[in-house]
Amino acid sequence: MTKTTHTVSFTLNGEKKTFGTRPDEKLLALLRREGYRGTKYGCGQGTCGACTVLLDGRATYACLLYAMQAEGREVRTIESAGTFDNPSVFQKELVAAGAVQCGYCIPGMVMSATALMETEKVLEDEIVKEYMDGNLCRCTGYEKIWVALRKTLDRQAAAPAKKPAAKSKSSAKGGKK
Ligand code: FES
Ligand code: FES
Repeated sequence: MTKTTHTVSFTLNGEKKTFGTRPDEKLLALLRREGYRGTKYGCGQGTCGACTVLLDGRATYACLLYAMQAEGREVRTIESAGTFDNPSVFQKELVAAGAVQCGYCIPGMVMSATALMETEKVLEDEIVKEYMDGNLCRCTGYEKIWVALRKTLDRQAAAPAKKPAAKSKSSAKGGKK
């Protein structure tokens, strides 16, 4: 049981929440402790992308961010992206392409792709690669993930515009390289 000394409040997947924490606790540890286990621990060093969440719309490594840095911010985890019964378009395409092998990298991939789709209007390959660059996959060789993502993006591009104004992109991934 984690001994907490402080509290942190932020919007998590659309709901205002307050959690106990400690100044040295990372957001990833807090999320997993609180049951948001879709966000994975991989390297713990900001290298693999398994822990990617959205912080105010930007893909961010939750293993590098102290939980208290989320105070007053908006955090989204993979639990907000889709469910087993109602997956997102990208999740469906990943399955259709056979891109989910062990699956460990997939939540992070989905969150980075979400940041991409919500931020960028022009989805050229170079921009897409920039967003996905910090998400590693040990199983697939990336080709099937790329096929699934490109299909999703092409479908989005063909759909009537429905998104509000895009958020600005600084580095494609806050806390990511
Ligand atoms: S766990 Fe690998 S980047 Fe966070
Ligand atoms: S599917 Fe296994 S790490 Fe990507």
